[in-house]
Amino acid sequence: MKIIGAEHSLVLAAKTAHILGAELLSAEFRSFPDGELYVRADAPAEDLVIIGSITNSDSLIQLLLLIDACEEADSLSLVIPYMGYARQDKKFRPGEPISARAVALALSQGIDRVYTINIHENTVLDHFVVPAENISIAERISDYIRSMKPGNPLILAPDEGAADFASDVASFGGFEHDHLQKIRLSGTEVNIAPKNMDANGRTVFIVDDIISTGGTLATAAGMLKEQGAAEVHAACVHGVFTNGGYARLAAAGIKSVAASDTIESGASSFSAAESISAALRGR
Ligand code: R5P
Repeated sequence: MKIIGAEHSLVLAAKTAHILGAELLSAEFRSFPDGELYVRADAPAEDLVIIGSITNSDSLIQLLLLIDACEEADSLSLVIPYMGYARQDKKFRPGEPISARAVALALSQGIDRVYTINIHENTVLDHFVVPAENISIAERISDYIRSMKPGNPLILAPDEGAADFASDVASFGGFEHDHLQKIRLSGTEVNIAPKNMDANGRTVFIVDDIISTGGTLATAAGMLKEQGAAEVHAACVHGVFTNGGYARLAAAGIKSVAASDTIESGASSFSAAESISAALRGR
C-alpha cells in the first residue's frame, strides 16, 4: 500500500503512512496563471490510497485531478478526512442541489472505495457508488480530554443532534455527559443549559463534529460560565473556524479549543491518523 496526500492533508497523510509503514508518494500541486489547478503524481500500478480533505472548491478539484492521475493504480482508496459540501445533504429549499450527492458522485469515478471521518450525516455515504465507510474518532477526542487530566469533567453536546457523538466521546473515557438545550425566554432572550445535569463547578468540554463560525459554542460557553462552570473547553473533529470562529471562541472565555487534523491548522491537537490506519488495515 502507498499513500498520496493532497496538498492540504500532507501532514495527516505522512502520519498515516508512518503508522502503516507505507511509502508516502510525492505529488506536485500548483496553479496556472488563470487559476486552473495542476496536479502531478508518480502513481504506480499498485494499491494506492489518496488522503485529501475538501476544505474549499479548489481542494475538491485537486482531489478529482489526483484521482485521474492515479488511473494506473491496481486499487485506489480515497480517504476524505473532512468532506466539505456534506452539510448540504438535502434540499432545504426548492431548486437547491443536494451538494453532498453531486460531490460524492463526482468523486466515485475512478476509485474503488471511500472512507470519511465523522461525516455530517451517514446518509451522505449512500451517494457514493463505491463501498463507503465512515470512521469515528470519538475515542481520539476522549483520549485528548483525558490527557488534560480535568477535574470533575462533564462532556456536553451543543444540541440534541450531537448527543450521540458526545455520548461516544464520554463512554470511551468513562465521563458523564449531557446535551445543551435551548429554551426561548422571549423574542430576544434564550437560555442555554444542560438538559439534565448541573454545570456548576464542572470542567465542561463541549464536543461537536464541526466548529465553523463558533457562534453556537460561544453563546453556550457564556451561559455555562454564568451557571457556575469552573472551565469551558471545546473540542471537535473538524475545525473549520470560518469568519473569525477561533477568535470568537477565545473571546467567549473558552479556555481551550482543540480540533483534529482532518483540517490542518494550529488548533490541530490530536490526529485522525491512528483511526484511518486501523480502517485501512482492516480492508
Ligand atoms: C451542525 O449541524 C454541526 O454539527 C455544527 O454544530 C455546526 O456546523 C457548528 O456551526 P457553528 O460553529 O457555525 O455554530
